[in-house]
Amino acid sequence: MKSNAVVTIVACLAMAASVVRANDSIQAREQVLAPGRPMLIGVDYYPEHWPRDRWETDARLMKEAGFNTVRLAEFAWIDMEPNEGRFEFGWLDDAIEVLAKHDIYVILGTPTAVMPAWVARKYPETLRTKADGTRVVWGGRKHNCYSSGAYRMLSQRIAQAMAEHFAKTPNVIGWQIDNEFGGEACHCGSCLAEFQDWLKARYGSLDELNRAWGNHFWGLKFTTWGEITIPDYATDREWVMGNPSACLDWKRFITWQQARFQAEQAEVVRAACPEDFVTHNLMGLFSSLDYYDMAADLDFVTWDNYPIWSGKPDIPYDSSLAADVMRGLKQRNFMIMEQTAGPCGWESFGRNPWPGEIRKIAYQQLAHGSDGQIWFRWRTCTVGREQYWHGLLGHDGKPLRRYREAAQTAQEFRKLESRLRGTTVVADVAIVYDYDNLWSLSFQPGFAGNSLQAAIKRYYHALTRAGVNVDIVNRRADLSRYKLVLTPDLSIMPDETARKLDAYVKNGGVLLADCRTGVKDERNLCHERTLPGLLSPALGITIEEYTSLGSDSWYKVATSDAGSTYTAIQYADWVTPQAAKAIAGYPDQWHMKPFAAVTRNEYGKGKAWYVGMVAKEDAFYDDLTRWLLEDAGVKPVVHPPLGVEASMRQGQGRKLLFLMNHTDEPKTVAVPQGRPELLSGTKTAESLTIDRFGVAVLEL
Ligand code: GLA
Ligand code: ZN
Repeated sequence: MKSNAVVTIVACLAMAASVVRANDSIQAREQVLAPGRPMLIGVDYYPEHWPRDRWETDARLMKEAGFNTVRLAEFAWIDMEPNEGRFEFGWLDDAIEVLAKHDIYVILGTPTAVMPAWVARKYPETLRTKADGTRVVWGGRKHNCYSSGAYRMLSQRIAQAMAEHFAKTPNVIGWQIDNEFGGEACHCGSCLAEFQDWLKARYGSLDELNRAWGNHFWGLKFTTWGEITIPDYATDREWVMGNPSACLDWKRFITWQQARFQAEQAEVVRAACPEDFVTHNLMGLFSSLDYYDMAADLDFVTWDNYPIWSGKPDIPYDSSLAADVMRGLKQRNFMIMEQTAGPCGWESFGRNPWPGEIRKIAYQQLAHGSDGQIWFRWRTCTVGREQYWHGLLGHDGKPLRRYREAAQTAQEFRKLESRLRGTTVVADVAIVYDYDNLWSLSFQPGFAGNSLQAAIKRYYHALTRAGVNVDIVNRRADLSRYKLVLTPDLSIMPDETARKLDAYVKNGGVLLADCRTGVKDERNLCHERTLPGLLSPALGITIEEYTSLGSDSWYKVATSDAGSTYTAIQYADWVTPQAAKAIAGYPDQWHMKPFAAVTRNEYGKGKAWYVGMVAKEDAFYDDLTRWLLEDAGVKPVVHPPLGVEASMRQGQGRKLLFLMNHTDEPKTVAVPQGRPELLSGTKTAESLTIDRFGVAVLEL
């Protein structure tokens, strides 16, 4: 939004001063729901896929649906620069003009996720080199090497040409850099040389690097920087599998490389369009890149949400988790850049969303802090790899059921908009999420089936079933404002983190840690300490030994009063309570009788819990969640029945409780009485029945 619109923005800025104040120093550009601008709702649109005489119909149908935003051009490099240095934006100007006539804003994607054929032909070194030393064959997307000087220069140049060209186009309001950075590794000589330089900058000397990687093992010491190779972290290749410390640094390096690529484009876009937002479409729980680093340079985070694949409707708590991860990256609201619009798939497509699901999926994100919704895609493409990735419109281009459901959603969102402004999820509970640990456990899970996300989901799902909102934060976040912090599977535990968690408990926090806590340092080397290392005093336990449980073995677990029993699978710590009290143990295994399965310790003003096994039953995590919430004094506003999710946004003196029925049968929820339900305009009685895939929004 530019030129004449600036005046409006300035006026609105003053009006919305309270929003700005609530967000401290956050600028308008950094807010999805920016002052003076409506909530952004719309579709990913590809005018280049359709005849010009269809554009007008598309724009009109979008407007009629209540849409006001499209994302454009993120794969259209060849159409904008058909030959090197010759830019053609006329077609895009025309498309944007048609959209503008229907009051539709534009987010432009820089097109560097697909290189034109001429780039590959003229600069073959821009093509990524695979681990076997051969180059990828041009013909799809995400082909590029991120260290190639030519590719970086060409990418910056097209981004700059676009930004300069569209700087004065009033309805262009923001930018998406590239598309879904994916953590592709390139094994070319120039990437290797960059890796060596990156290590030199990180470690200073080869001695230090050899120590950090433990290269005295297997005689892997380097004597010159040039000897360093790219570690192989593919787990299916026995004997060539790289050193875990080297693998971890390689992962960090890949993030650094792609963040640099993003920054180079963000810089030229910002220089030409300082009022526009700059973002990128992340992928939720995708874990090949450190999203905290990738998000640092963005004005706000957007992400692509595809929760429906195949089978029957299930309860998509993982989408809520992904949303909470996304909100946590900048600890601010985010936006959906690609939202499920129909059956998804490239070779085979999955389940068509049943009536109500498209709307419910969008509400789930709204409830977790999404301030804008863009469906992928407008119309199902008749050509190319994504012929079966369905849009709101089918191949026939008619505005049918999926279109109507998205339109209804858009119109409802716009009605809620004034209540939503200045609100976000405010959680008393946090779970620590950390890419070093994600990566480290992906090279060496320790026990079969172990992964950071699997561990987090056990607790997150239980907290969600309990109706409690959760913040997902990284290990550097300020934890002091949370009543309950969970740090599942934090095997990489730098001393600094352990000290912080210790202080957190001492000062009155409630902590939950579990299996493999504190095994390693940030170099991915094991600490020379009895587990759980520096957290031993806070947790009040020691763990001298531990065991994997194969798929054929399990232990019975019982609470100390024998009131409840569960099953330990996969893994068990041999936990010796010191100051801690055993809450549950192993009554049936003679060799496990001295050890606890669950402990609770009072430490300073706080409490620290430890779970030394993986439980098979959800019931265990539900019981544990109850105990933890009680200790932390956290009370859910409602107790949703299974299948109904509750999430609350608050701010500006308002509390909006979203209730989403993920099942295809009606569900009744006990709710606070006499509160407005904003979608129906009625007041609540003591309970509320939510239709299949239905949603209710209560103002508390
Ligand atoms: C991703 C991409 C889109 C599109 C969809 C569907 O999320 O960002 O360009 O390819 O998947 O495949
Ligand atoms: Zn390369």
